[in-house]
Amino acid sequence: MTFSGEVYLDNSATTPVFPQVMSTMHKIMQDEYGNPSSLHRRGSGAARIIEAARRTIAELLCVSNEEIIFTSGGTESNNLAIMGIARRNKRRGNHLVTTLIEHSSVLEPFQQLEEEGFSVSYLLPDKDGLIEPSSVAEAVCDQTILISIMHVNNEIGTVQPISEIAKAIKARNPNVIFHIDGVQSFAKFPLHPHDSRIDALSISAHKFHGPRGMGTLYLRRGILVDPLLRGGGHEKGIRAGTENTPGIAGMALAARLSFQDQQQKMKQLNSLKEKLIAAITRDHPWARVNGAQGEGGAPHILNVSFPGLKGELIMHTLEEYNVYVSTGSACHSHKNDPSHVLQALKLDEQSMEGAIRISLSEQNTMEQIDHALAALNKVISSLS
Ligand SMILES: Cc1ncc(COP(=O)(O)O)c(C=O)c1O
Repeated sequence: MTFSGEVYLDNSATTPVFPQVMSTMHKIMQDEYGNPSSLHRRGSGAARIIEAARRTIAELLCVSNEEIIFTSGGTESNNLAIMGIARRNKRRGNHLVTTLIEHSSVLEPFQQLEEEGFSVSYLLPDKDGLIEPSSVAEAVCDQTILISIMHVNNEIGTVQPISEIAKAIKARNPNVIFHIDGVQSFAKFPLHPHDSRIDALSISAHKFHGPRGMGTLYLRRGILVDPLLRGGGHEKGIRAGTENTPGIAGMALAARLSFQDQQQKMKQLNSLKEKLIAAITRDHPWARVNGAQGEGGAPHILNVSFPGLKGELIMHTLEEYNVYVSTGSACHSHKNDPSHVLQALKLDEQSMEGAIRISLSEQNTMEQIDHALAALNKVISSLS
Protein backbone atom coordinates (compact mmCIF):
# COMPACT_ATOMS: atom_id res chain seq x y z
CA MET A 1 0.00 0.00 0.00
CA THR A 2 1.52 3.32 -1.00
CA PHE A 3 -1.15 5.58 0.50
CA SER A 4 0.11 6.93 3.81
CA GLY A 5 -2.60 9.35 5.02
CA GLU A 6 -5.42 8.83 7.48
CA VAL A 7 -8.78 7.55 6.22
CA TYR A 8 -11.51 8.82 8.52
CA LEU A 9 -14.72 6.89 7.81
CA ASP A 10 -16.61 7.60 11.05
CA ASN A 11 -18.40 10.75 9.92
CA SER A 12 -21.75 9.77 11.41
CA ALA A 13 -20.10 9.86 14.83
CA THR A 14 -18.65 13.28 14.12
CA THR A 15 -17.00 15.18 11.27
CA PRO A 16 -13.76 17.19 11.13
CA VAL A 17 -14.49 20.92 11.50
CA PHE A 18 -14.10 22.97 8.28
CA PRO A 19 -10.96 25.18 8.51
CA GLN A 20 -13.04 28.30 7.60
CA VAL A 21 -15.35 27.49 10.54
CA MET A 22 -12.41 27.21 12.91
CA SER A 23 -10.94 30.55 11.84
CA THR A 24 -14.32 32.32 12.04
CA MET A 25 -14.90 30.93 15.53
CA HIS A 26 -11.41 31.92 16.61
CA LYS A 27 -11.93 35.47 15.38
CA ILE A 28 -15.29 35.78 17.11
CA MET A 29 -13.85 34.46 20.38
CA GLN A 30 -11.11 37.04 20.12
CA ASP A 31 -13.10 40.07 18.94
CA GLU A 32 -16.74 39.51 19.87
CA TYR A 33 -16.46 38.40 23.47
CA GLY A 34 -19.38 40.49 24.69
CA ASN A 35 -22.46 38.94 26.27
CA PRO A 36 -25.19 39.18 23.59
CA SER A 37 -27.64 40.33 26.29
CA SER A 38 -25.46 43.29 27.30
CA LEU A 39 -26.88 46.62 26.20
CA HIS A 40 -23.55 48.19 25.21
CA ARG A 41 -21.77 47.96 21.85
CA ARG A 42 -19.84 44.81 22.76
CA GLY A 43 -23.12 43.06 23.51
CA SER A 44 -24.99 44.29 20.45
CA GLY A 45 -22.11 43.15 18.19
CA ALA A 46 -22.41 39.61 19.53
CA ALA A 47 -26.22 39.75 19.30
CA ARG A 48 -25.97 40.77 15.63
CA ILE A 49 -23.77 37.74 14.89
CA ILE A 50 -26.34 35.45 16.50
CA GLU A 51 -29.23 36.96 14.55
CA ALA A 52 -27.28 36.67 11.27
CA ALA A 53 -26.66 32.98 12.04
CA ARG A 54 -30.37 32.52 12.82
CA ARG A 55 -31.24 34.02 9.43
CA THR A 56 -28.80 31.67 7.70
CA ILE A 57 -30.24 28.50 9.28
CA ALA A 58 -33.81 29.76 8.72
CA GLU A 59 -33.09 30.49 5.04
CA LEU A 60 -31.54 27.06 4.48
CA LEU A 61 -34.65 25.42 5.96
CA CYS A 62 -37.01 27.91 4.25
CA VAL A 63 -38.60 28.84 7.60
CA SER A 64 -38.89 32.05 9.63
CA ASN A 65 -36.17 33.33 11.94
CA GLU A 66 -38.49 33.12 14.97
CA GLU A 67 -38.86 29.38 14.40
CA ILE A 68 -35.14 28.72 15.08
CA ILE A 69 -33.96 27.92 18.64
CA PHE A 70 -30.26 27.39 19.30
CA THR A 71 -29.32 24.49 21.61
CA SER A 72 -26.24 22.54 22.68
CA GLY A 73 -26.68 19.82 20.05
CA GLY A 74 -28.86 17.03 18.72
CA THR A 75 -29.36 15.46 22.14
CA GLU A 76 -30.70 18.66 23.66
CA SER A 77 -32.87 19.45 20.62
CA ASN A 78 -34.43 15.98 20.78
CA ASN A 79 -34.95 16.17 24.56
CA LEU A 80 -36.45 19.65 24.33
CA ALA A 81 -38.79 18.77 21.46
CA ILE A 82 -40.03 15.49 22.93
CA MET A 83 -40.29 16.24 26.63
CA GLY A 84 -41.09 19.92 26.08
CA ILE A 85 -43.95 19.29 23.64
CA ALA A 86 -45.41 16.30 25.51
CA ARG A 87 -45.43 18.02 28.91
CA ARG A 88 -46.81 21.29 27.57
CA ASN A 89 -49.59 19.62 25.57
CA LYS A 90 -50.61 16.88 28.01
CA ARG A 91 -54.08 18.34 28.54
CA ARG A 92 -54.83 17.41 24.91
CA GLY A 93 -53.92 13.73 25.32
CA ASN A 94 -51.40 11.30 26.76
CA HIS A 95 -50.44 9.13 23.78
CA LEU A 96 -47.09 9.40 21.96
CA VAL A 97 -45.59 7.47 19.04
CA THR A 98 -41.99 6.75 18.04
CA THR A 99 -39.99 3.87 16.53
CA LEU A 100 -37.71 1.17 17.92
CA ILE A 101 -34.72 2.38 15.86
CA GLU A 102 -34.40 5.95 17.19
CA HIS A 103 -31.24 7.40 18.69
CA SER A 104 -30.97 7.09 22.49
CA SER A 105 -31.52 10.87 22.79
CA VAL A 106 -35.06 10.18 21.52
CA LEU A 107 -35.73 6.82 23.19
CA GLU A 108 -34.69 7.91 26.68
CA PRO A 109 -36.93 11.00 26.78
CA PHE A 110 -39.84 8.73 25.75
CA GLN A 111 -38.95 6.30 28.57
CA GLN A 112 -38.93 9.25 30.98
CA LEU A 113 -42.35 10.34 29.71
CA GLU A 114 -43.70 6.81 30.27
CA GLU A 115 -42.62 7.15 33.90
CA GLU A 116 -44.57 10.43 34.01
CA GLY A 117 -47.76 8.62 32.93
CA PHE A 118 -47.72 8.97 29.14
CA SER A 119 -48.40 5.94 26.97
CA VAL A 120 -45.91 5.37 24.12
CA SER A 121 -46.29 3.19 20.98
CA TYR A 122 -42.92 1.99 19.62
CA LEU A 123 -43.17 1.07 15.92
CA LEU A 124 -41.19 -1.85 14.49
CA PRO A 125 -39.50 -1.24 11.09
CA ASP A 126 -39.34 -3.81 8.28
CA LYS A 127 -36.18 -5.90 7.75
CA ASP A 128 -34.43 -2.95 6.04
CA GLY A 129 -35.31 -0.46 8.77
CA LEU A 130 -38.17 1.21 6.88
CA ILE A 131 -41.25 2.51 8.67
CA GLU A 132 -44.44 2.22 6.62
CA PRO A 133 -46.43 5.50 6.59
CA SER A 134 -49.67 3.51 7.00
CA SER A 135 -48.32 1.82 10.17
CA VAL A 136 -47.67 5.27 11.69
CA ALA A 137 -51.18 6.44 10.79
CA GLU A 138 -52.66 3.26 12.31
CA ALA A 139 -50.92 4.00 15.60
CA VAL A 140 -52.60 7.44 15.83
CA CYS A 141 -55.65 7.79 18.06
CA ASP A 142 -57.66 10.71 19.51
CA GLN A 143 -55.26 10.86 22.47
CA THR A 144 -52.08 11.12 20.31
CA ILE A 145 -50.30 14.45 20.75
CA LEU A 146 -46.76 13.83 19.45
CA ILE A 147 -44.95 11.57 16.96
CA SER A 148 -41.16 11.53 16.66
CA ILE A 149 -39.37 9.73 13.80
CA MET A 150 -35.79 10.07 12.59
CA HIS A 151 -35.11 11.02 8.96
CA VAL A 152 -31.87 9.07 8.38
CA ASN A 153 -30.87 6.27 10.74
CA ASN A 154 -27.41 6.83 12.19
CA GLU A 155 -26.45 3.15 12.25
CA ILE A 156 -27.79 1.73 8.98
CA GLY A 157 -28.53 4.85 6.89
CA THR A 158 -32.14 3.94 6.10
CA VAL A 159 -34.06 7.04 4.96
CA GLN A 160 -37.67 7.31 6.16
CA PRO A 161 -40.31 8.70 3.77
CA ILE A 162 -40.91 11.69 6.04
CA SER A 163 -43.32 13.64 3.81
CA GLU A 164 -45.51 10.58 3.21
CA ILE A 165 -45.51 9.78 6.92
CA ALA A 166 -46.50 13.38 7.73
CA LYS A 167 -49.32 13.25 5.18
CA ALA A 168 -50.63 9.95 6.60
CA ILE A 169 -50.50 11.22 10.19
CA LYS A 170 -52.16 14.56 9.49
CA ALA A 171 -54.93 12.87 7.45
CA ARG A 172 -55.71 10.78 10.52
CA ASN A 173 -55.41 13.56 13.10
CA PRO A 174 -54.28 17.05 11.98
CA ASN A 175 -53.53 18.11 15.57
CA VAL A 176 -50.73 15.62 16.09
CA ILE A 177 -47.34 17.35 16.39
CA PHE A 178 -44.68 15.73 14.18
CA HIS A 179 -41.02 15.91 15.26
CA ILE A 180 -38.11 14.77 13.10
CA ASP A 181 -34.62 13.89 14.29
CA GLY A 182 -32.80 15.34 11.28
CA VAL A 183 -29.31 15.04 12.79
CA GLN A 184 -28.02 12.64 10.11
CA SER A 185 -29.89 14.19 7.19
CA PHE A 186 -29.54 17.97 7.49
CA ALA A 187 -27.28 19.42 4.78
CA LYS A 188 -27.50 16.15 2.85
CA PHE A 189 -31.18 15.77 1.96
CA PRO A 190 -33.53 18.63 1.15
CA LEU A 191 -35.54 19.31 4.31
CA HIS A 192 -38.35 21.85 4.09
CA PRO A 193 -40.39 21.62 7.27
CA HIS A 194 -43.19 23.86 5.99
CA ASP A 195 -43.70 21.84 2.78
CA SER A 196 -43.28 18.48 4.50
CA ARG A 197 -45.61 19.42 7.40
CA ILE A 198 -42.88 18.89 9.98
CA ASP A 199 -43.61 20.75 13.24
CA ALA A 200 -40.24 20.33 14.94
CA LEU A 201 -36.80 19.34 13.64
CA SER A 202 -33.50 18.62 15.43
CA ILE A 203 -30.10 19.43 13.93
CA SER A 204 -26.55 18.97 15.23
CA ALA A 205 -23.61 21.06 13.96
CA HIS A 206 -20.84 18.51 14.43
CA LYS A 207 -22.41 16.16 11.87
CA PHE A 208 -21.81 18.71 9.07
CA HIS A 209 -18.29 19.94 9.86
CA GLY A 210 -19.40 22.45 12.47
CA PRO A 211 -18.41 22.60 16.15
CA ARG A 212 -19.42 19.94 18.69
CA GLY A 213 -21.87 21.08 21.35
CA MET A 214 -24.05 23.19 19.00
CA GLY A 215 -27.48 22.42 17.65
CA THR A 216 -30.73 23.86 16.44
CA LEU A 217 -34.35 23.07 17.08
CA TYR A 218 -36.80 24.26 14.45
CA LEU A 219 -40.19 24.77 16.12
CA ARG A 220 -43.12 25.69 13.92
CA ARG A 221 -44.76 28.97 14.96
CA GLY A 222 -47.53 28.25 17.47
CA ILE A 223 -46.07 25.00 18.86
CA LEU A 224 -45.80 25.35 22.62
CA VAL A 225 -43.04 23.68 24.65
CA ASP A 226 -42.10 23.48 28.31
CA PRO A 227 -38.46 24.61 28.58
CA LEU A 228 -35.88 22.18 29.96
CA LEU A 229 -33.55 25.01 31.01
CA ARG A 230 -34.98 27.99 32.82
CA GLY A 231 -33.22 31.23 33.61
CA GLY A 232 -32.58 34.46 31.78
CA GLY A 233 -35.27 34.21 29.10
CA HIS A 234 -32.84 33.60 26.21
CA GLU A 235 -34.14 32.10 22.97
CA LYS A 236 -37.65 33.46 23.63
CA GLY A 237 -37.67 31.81 27.07
CA ILE A 238 -37.52 28.35 25.48
CA ARG A 239 -33.83 27.74 26.18
CA ALA A 240 -32.15 29.82 28.87
CA GLY A 241 -28.38 30.31 29.04
CA THR A 242 -25.91 32.84 27.68
CA GLU A 243 -25.60 32.14 23.97
CA ASN A 244 -22.50 30.48 22.53
CA THR A 245 -21.72 33.19 19.97
CA PRO A 246 -18.72 31.49 18.26
CA GLY A 247 -20.49 28.12 18.24
CA ILE A 248 -23.66 29.56 16.73
CA ALA A 249 -21.73 31.44 14.03
CA GLY A 250 -19.59 28.35 13.35
CA MET A 251 -22.70 26.19 12.96
CA ALA A 252 -24.30 28.63 10.51
CA LEU A 253 -21.12 28.88 8.41
CA ALA A 254 -20.71 25.08 8.37
CA ALA A 255 -24.34 24.76 7.25
CA ARG A 256 -23.88 27.30 4.47
CA LEU A 257 -20.71 25.58 3.23
CA SER A 258 -22.36 22.15 3.39
CA PHE A 259 -25.30 23.33 1.30
CA GLN A 260 -22.99 24.49 -1.50
CA ASP A 261 -23.02 22.07 -4.48
CA GLN A 262 -25.16 19.73 -2.40
CA GLN A 263 -26.25 17.58 -5.35
CA GLN A 264 -22.71 17.18 -6.60
CA LYS A 265 -21.56 16.14 -3.10
CA MET A 266 -24.39 13.60 -2.83
CA LYS A 267 -23.35 12.13 -6.19
CA GLN A 268 -19.76 11.86 -4.99
CA LEU A 269 -20.86 10.15 -1.75
CA ASN A 270 -23.04 7.76 -3.74
CA SER A 271 -20.16 6.70 -5.95
CA LEU A 272 -17.89 6.15 -2.94
CA LYS A 273 -20.59 4.04 -1.28
CA GLU A 274 -21.28 2.06 -4.47
CA LYS A 275 -17.57 1.33 -4.80
CA LEU A 276 -17.44 0.09 -1.19
CA ILE A 277 -20.49 -2.16 -1.62
CA ALA A 278 -19.30 -3.59 -4.95
CA ALA A 279 -15.82 -4.38 -3.64
CA ILE A 280 -16.93 -5.77 -0.27
CA THR A 281 -19.62 -8.04 -1.73
CA ARG A 282 -17.21 -9.22 -4.46
CA ASP A 283 -14.29 -9.96 -2.11
CA HIS A 284 -16.38 -11.28 0.79
CA PRO A 285 -19.55 -12.78 -0.67
CA TRP A 286 -20.57 -14.00 2.81
CA ALA A 287 -20.71 -10.39 4.11
CA ARG A 288 -24.14 -8.85 4.44
CA VAL A 289 -25.11 -5.23 3.81
CA ASN A 290 -27.64 -4.04 6.41
CA GLY A 291 -30.41 -1.46 5.93
CA ALA A 292 -32.21 -0.22 2.84
CA GLN A 293 -30.15 0.42 -0.30
CA GLY A 294 -30.78 2.55 -3.41
CA GLU A 295 -33.43 5.25 -2.90
CA GLY A 296 -34.11 4.07 0.67
CA GLY A 297 -30.48 4.32 1.79
CA ALA A 298 -28.43 7.42 2.62
CA PRO A 299 -25.28 7.81 0.49
CA HIS A 300 -23.03 8.46 3.50
CA ILE A 301 -23.79 5.48 5.75
CA LEU A 302 -22.95 1.83 5.08
CA ASN A 303 -23.47 -0.92 7.65
CA VAL A 304 -21.91 -4.31 6.82
CA SER A 305 -21.84 -7.56 8.80
CA PHE A 306 -19.04 -10.09 8.62
CA PRO A 307 -20.77 -12.98 10.39
CA GLY A 308 -18.39 -15.05 12.49
CA LEU A 309 -16.03 -12.12 13.12
CA LYS A 310 -16.26 -9.44 15.79
CA GLY A 311 -17.02 -5.92 14.53
CA GLU A 312 -15.00 -4.44 17.36
CA LEU A 313 -11.93 -6.43 16.40
CA ILE A 314 -12.29 -5.43 12.73
CA MET A 315 -12.52 -1.79 13.79
CA HIS A 316 -9.41 -1.93 16.00
CA THR A 317 -7.36 -3.86 13.41
CA LEU A 318 -8.30 -1.33 10.72
CA GLU A 319 -6.88 1.34 13.02
CA GLU A 320 -3.43 -0.18 12.48
CA TYR A 321 -3.80 0.86 8.82
CA ASN A 322 -4.92 4.37 9.81
CA VAL A 323 -8.51 3.60 8.79
CA TYR A 324 -11.25 4.66 11.22
CA VAL A 325 -14.72 3.09 11.17
CA SER A 326 -17.12 2.23 13.95
CA THR A 327 -19.22 -0.64 15.26
CA GLY A 328 -22.73 0.81 14.86
CA SER A 329 -23.47 3.92 16.89
CA ALA A 330 -20.56 5.70 18.61
CA CYS A 331 -22.87 6.59 21.49
CA HIS A 332 -23.35 2.90 22.23
CA SER A 333 -19.97 1.60 21.28
CA HIS A 334 -18.82 1.39 24.89
CA LYS A 335 -21.76 -0.86 25.77
CA ASN A 336 -21.52 -4.55 25.07
CA ASP A 337 -25.20 -5.05 24.21
CA PRO A 338 -25.99 -5.69 20.56
CA SER A 339 -27.26 -2.61 18.76
CA HIS A 340 -30.99 -1.99 19.32
CA VAL A 341 -31.26 -0.99 15.65
CA LEU A 342 -29.79 -4.25 14.35
CA GLN A 343 -32.00 -6.13 16.84
CA ALA A 344 -35.06 -4.37 15.41
CA LEU A 345 -34.02 -5.61 11.93
CA LYS A 346 -34.05 -9.13 13.47
CA LEU A 347 -30.48 -9.90 12.41
CA ASP A 348 -29.02 -13.15 13.71
CA GLU A 349 -26.53 -12.97 16.62
CA GLN A 350 -23.42 -13.41 14.43
CA SER A 351 -24.46 -10.70 11.96
CA MET A 352 -25.03 -8.28 14.84
CA GLU A 353 -21.66 -9.08 16.41
CA GLY A 354 -19.81 -8.79 13.12
CA ALA A 355 -21.27 -5.42 12.05
CA ILE A 356 -19.21 -2.35 11.25
CA ARG A 357 -20.41 1.08 10.15
CA ILE A 358 -18.53 2.98 7.47
CA SER A 359 -19.70 6.58 7.28
CA LEU A 360 -18.53 9.07 4.68
CA SER A 361 -18.25 12.81 4.29
CA GLU A 362 -17.59 15.17 1.40
CA GLN A 363 -13.92 15.17 2.43
CA ASN A 364 -13.42 11.49 1.54
CA THR A 365 -11.83 10.61 -1.80
CA MET A 366 -11.78 7.57 -4.08
CA GLU A 367 -8.09 7.11 -3.25
CA GLN A 368 -8.96 6.87 0.44
CA ILE A 369 -11.67 4.32 -0.32
CA ASP A 370 -9.19 2.20 -2.30
CA HIS A 371 -6.82 2.29 0.67
CA ALA A 372 -9.61 1.41 3.12
CA LEU A 373 -10.75 -1.52 0.93
CA ALA A 374 -7.21 -2.90 0.64
CA ALA A 375 -6.81 -2.60 4.43
CA LEU A 376 -10.19 -4.26 5.00
CA ASN A 377 -9.18 -7.23 2.83
CA LYS A 378 -5.99 -7.71 4.86
CA VAL A 379 -7.87 -7.36 8.15
CA ILE A 380 -10.61 -9.82 7.19
CA SER A 381 -8.16 -12.45 5.97
CA SER A 382 -6.02 -12.04 9.09
CA LEU A 383 -9.05 -12.47 11.37
CA SER A 384 -10.79 -15.28 9.41
C1 LIG B 1 -29.63 10.40 14.76
C2 LIG B 1 -28.96 11.12 15.87
N1 LIG B 1 -29.70 11.88 16.71
C3 LIG B 1 -29.14 12.58 17.71
C4 LIG B 1 -27.77 12.55 17.94
C5 LIG B 1 -27.19 13.34 19.07
O1 LIG B 1 -26.56 14.49 18.59
P1 LIG B 1 -25.43 15.24 19.48
O2 LIG B 1 -24.20 14.38 19.39
O3 LIG B 1 -25.26 16.57 18.82
O4 LIG B 1 -25.96 15.35 20.86
C6 LIG B 1 -26.96 11.76 17.10
C7 LIG B 1 -25.50 11.66 17.35
O5 LIG B 1 -24.85 10.68 16.98
C8 LIG B 1 -27.56 11.04 16.04
O6 LIG B 1 -26.85 10.30 15.20
